Amino acid sequence: MSQAYEKAYRQSLEDPTAFWGEAAKDIQWYKQPLKVLDDSAKPFYRWFDGGRMNTCYNALDYHVENGRADQVAVIYDSPATGTVKRFTYREVRDEVARFAGVLVHQGVQKGDTVIIYMPMVPEALIAMYACARIGAVHSVVFGGFAPNELAIRINDAQPKLLVSASCGIEGKKTIEYKPLLDKALELATHKLDRVVLLQRPQVKAPMIAGRDFDWVEEMEKAQPVDCVPVEATDPLYILYTSGTTGMPKGVVRDNGGHAVALKWSMKNIYNVKPGEVFWAASDVGWVVGHSYIVYAPLLYGATTVLYEGKPVGTPDAGAFWRVVQDHDVKVLFTAPTAFRAIKKEDPNGELLKKYDIQHFRTLFLAGERLDPDTYHWASNLLKVPVVDHWWQTETGWSIAANCMGLGAFPIKPGSPTKPAPGYDVRILDGEGKELPRGQEGMVVIKLPLPPSCLPTLWKNDQKYLESYLDPFPGYYFTGDGGYYDQDGYLYIMGRVDDVINVAGHRLSTGGMEEIIATHPDVAECAVVGMADDFKGQLPIGFVVLKAGVTKPEKIIVDELAALVRQQIGAIACYKKTLVVQRLPKTRSGKILRGTIRKMIRKICDKQEYTIPSTIDDPASLREIEAQFRG
Ligand code: COA
Ligand code: AMP
Repeated sequence: MSQAYEKAYRQSLEDPTAFWGEAAKDIQWYKQPLKVLDDSAKPFYRWFDGGRMNTCYNALDYHVENGRADQVAVIYDSPATGTVKRFTYREVRDEVARFAGVLVHQGVQKGDTVIIYMPMVPEALIAMYACARIGAVHSVVFGGFAPNELAIRINDAQPKLLVSASCGIEGKKTIEYKPLLDKALELATHKLDRVVLLQRPQVKAPMIAGRDFDWVEEMEKAQPVDCVPVEATDPLYILYTSGTTGMPKGVVRDNGGHAVALKWSMKNIYNVKPGEVFWAASDVGWVVGHSYIVYAPLLYGATTVLYEGKPVGTPDAGAFWRVVQDHDVKVLFTAPTAFRAIKKEDPNGELLKKYDIQHFRTLFLAGERLDPDTYHWASNLLKVPVVDHWWQTETGWSIAANCMGLGAFPIKPGSPTKPAPGYDVRILDGEGKELPRGQEGMVVIKLPLPPSCLPTLWKNDQKYLESYLDPFPGYYFTGDGGYYDQDGYLYIMGRVDDVINVAGHRLSTGGMEEIIATHPDVAECAVVGMADDFKGQLPIGFVVLKAGVTKPEKIIVDELAALVRQQIGAIACYKKTLVVQRLPKTRSGKILRGTIRKMIRKICDKQEYTIPSTIDDPASLREIEAQFRG
C-alpha cells in the first residue's frame, strides 16, 4: 500500500479546501483567492473564487524571471518536415507576447473567443498562450476535422478571429488547410471576418485581401503585450468533444483550477522534475495536447516536445525511440493505439536496439483502455513502468492513475489503478444504487469534481446538467462503465453511451447516424463501436434501406463511407455498413442501441451471447448477429 497516496487521497476528499489550498501555493496569484471551493450555487462549483492570476504568466514569464529564461521550453521535432528547433523560455515568452500584440491589433479583447485550427507547429502553442496572455478564450479544433465540424464549432464559440496555417502534414500526406477553412467559413452562420494564417513553406495558400492576414507580416508590425490578470474562474479555453449527438459539447476550462491541478499532477502523477523533458505524443487538438504538450510542462518549468510525426512511417517504427534518445525524454505519454501501431510494424522491437534510451523512466498511456497484450509488450520491451491512466476531455487530467510521485502501487494490467486525489469514484447500477466491489456498473464521480474539471459547458448550463449531473443526482456521470476489484483497483471497460474511441480519438456514433440518415436510400440506422485490434474500436453501421430501393448495396455502402468522411473527416474511420431488414426497437419505437452495442461487444470479446428474453423482436437481433458474424 502506498502511504503517501492514501494520505493524499484521504485528505483530498475529507478536506478539499486544505488539500487544494496547499497546491494553490505553487501558483503565482495577483490576488489570493477568497475561497478555495465555492459551493454556494450547487451543483455548480467554482475553484479559487476571487483569485486573480494569469496562466501565461505562470507558464512563461514567471520562469523567465526566476532562472529559467535560457532553459529550453519547447522542442519542435518534425520528421514530417525534417526540422528540429529548440525554443528557450525567453524565446517562447517573446513570441507569445508579440502574437498577443497581433491579437490585440486585430481587435481581440479579454473574454473574446479565438478559434485555432492548426497542425502540430510551435505557432499553435504560441497562439494558445497569446490568448491566455490577454484573457481571450481559445478553442483549438483538431486539424483532422472536416469543414462541417469546424463550422459547427465556429457557430457555437462565435469567435472574433480564426488562426490557422496553410497546411498540415500527415505522415507522407500534405493536407491543405485553406480550402477547408474557407469552406467552413462559408458554411458557418456566425460570420467571421478575420483570419491570421501561417504560410508554411510546403504550401502557399491564396489569401483573401482584407480578411486574411499573414502571420509573419502581422508579427513584424506588432508590439509585445503584457499579461492581463484574469479571475481564476474566467475561462481559459473551450474544447469541443464528442457527445452522443452530432452537436459536440463545448467543455469549458477555467484558469485557476486548471493551473493548480496540472502543476500538481506533474510531480505527483508523472513524477517529473522541473527542467526535465516530458513528451506527450498527441496533438494540440485533443485534451492530452492541451494539458500535457502545452500547459502542464511549462507551468511546471519542464521542457515539452511538440512532435509533428507519427509513431510509424516517419520514417519507421523506431521514431519514438529516436525522439526519446535525441531529446533525453524522461517521461512519454501517448495512446495505446500508437504502441499497437509500433508493435504491428516491429513486433520484436528490433528498431529499439538502434537507440540509447537508458535515461527513459516511465511510459504513460491513456485515451482508451490499455489492453493487457499491449501493456505486456510495451513493458517487456522498454523495461520501465507502463502506467495506464484514465481521463476525459471534461476533466483535463487523470481521474485514475498509478500516481508515480506518491509511491507507486503494483501494476495490474487492464486497470488504471486507483482514483487520483480529488476524485471520489463510485460504481452505480442503473437506479443509482452503489454496487459492491467486483460488480460492473456506471462509473460516476461524487461531487464536487476537483480543480480543472469542467465547471460547465460553453454558454450551456442546461446541457451540462442534462449530460452529466441529472442522470445520477449528486454525481458526475462519466459515460464509462467499469468496476472495482477486491483490492480497490478500478477497471474502465468502455463507454455505455453513444461515444466510441477510434485510435484514441473520441467520436460520436450518434453524430455518424445523423449523417447516414441524410442518405436518400436510408430509412433508419444504428452505429455502434466494434473492437479492433489496431485502433481499439471502429464504427460499424446497421442500416435499413427504404422500401423499393434498387441501387446495389455495395454502392450505398461506399456512399455512406464517403459521406461520413466528408462530413466528419477521415479520422472517423467509418467504412463498414451492414444492410439489415429491421432494427430491434422498444414498443415505443426507440432503437435498442444499447442492446446492439452489448451484443457486438460480447461477440468481439468471444463471449457467449444470449438474446435477452425481454426483446419483443428477437429475430431482428438474430439477423444483426448473423450478418456481423458473417
Ligand atoms: N489531419 C488530417 N487528417 C488526419 C489527421 C490530421 N491531423 N489525423 C489523422 N488523419 C487522417 C489519417 O491520415 C487517416 O486518413 P486515411 O483514411 O486517408 O488514411 C485517417 O485520418 C485515420 O487516421 P488514424 O485513425 O489516426 O489512422 P492512421 O493509420 O493514420 O494512424 C495511429 C494510426 C495509431 C498511428 C494514429 O492514430 C495515432 O498516432 N494515434 C494516437 C492518437 C492520440 O494521440 N490520441 C490522443 C490521446 S493520447
Ligand atoms: P477523451 O475525452 O477524448 O479523452 O476520451 C475520454 C474517454 O476515453 C473516456 O470516457 C474513456 O471511455 C476513454 N478512456 C480514456 N482513457 C482511458 C483509459 N486509460 N482506460 C479506459 N478508457 C479510457
